[in-house]
Amino acid sequence: MRKAYIVTVALFALVFSLASASDPDPLQDFCVALKDYSDYSKSAVLGILFKDPKLVKAEYFFFEGLNIAGNTDNKVGSNITTMNVDTLPSLNTLGISLARIDFAPYGENPPHTHPRGTEILVVLEGTLFIGFVTSNPDNRLFTKTLNKGDVFVFPVGLIHFQLNVGKTNAIAISGLSSQNASVITIADAVFRSNPPINPNVLTKAFQLDKNVVEELQKEFGVEK
Ligand SMILES: *[C@@H]1O[C@H](CO)[C@@H](O)[C@H](O)[C@H]1NC(C)=O
Ligand SMILES: *[C@@H]1O[C@H](CO)[C@@H](O)[C@H](O)[C@H]1NC(C)=O
Repeated sequence: MRKAYIVTVALFALVFSLASASDPDPLQDFCVALKDYSDYSKSAVLGILFKDPKLVKAEYFFFEGLNIAGNTDNKVGSNITTMNVDTLPSLNTLGISLARIDFAPYGENPPHTHPRGTEILVVLEGTLFIGFVTSNPDNRLFTKTLNKGDVFVFPVGLIHFQLNVGKTNAIAISGLSSQNASVITIADAVFRSNPPINPNVLTKAFQLDKNVVEELQKEFGVEK
């Protein structure tokens, strides 16, 4: 009897910890995050500051300019314009966000993960070679070449990438299942952390010569 009770409690704890891994459901129609602190209410449940609902206007739900391309003149040849709770405060508590991804010819959105959001991507222009890798121990790679109008899903937390394989610019729009899905770009996290990871750690992890690791850290702008 007691054993069954403990198992039940453990199962509940597991279910709860899994459920809280994604954004919680809203407890009101909207809860526009406060940016300027001039007019606010305090949510008893969330414990965060938000706009007094009586002062909320249509503008708070509105964002313009997603027709404008980001500047892809950088090392990877891509640029991401993000609409998350930081840029569109009305997304607060709603569990959703959006991004526009621009690619120069042969530009890429390098391997990265969104710790809090599944991504659904639609190609508006161009041809993208995309993929994601499953977790250990399989590390199975799923890839596909996407053309205009094609849609692909990247499950939450998995490492994925998009590479423009066309001679022209490419554009994609992504929806994410979090108000703030966040991005961890693998190469940046590993070779450009602040402070830098001790090269001995990376030498063993990547089975590389220490000089190569230090060279990579230098390439990513880590000062010695
Ligand atoms: C992305 O584009 C914007 C707008 O052109 C620019 O301000 C920003 O620096 C670009 N970001 C990168 C990483 O190139
Ligand atoms: C969104 O997440 C980033 C970290 O990825 C954090 O710096 C930022 O404060 C978060 N924004 C909000 C409004 O929670």
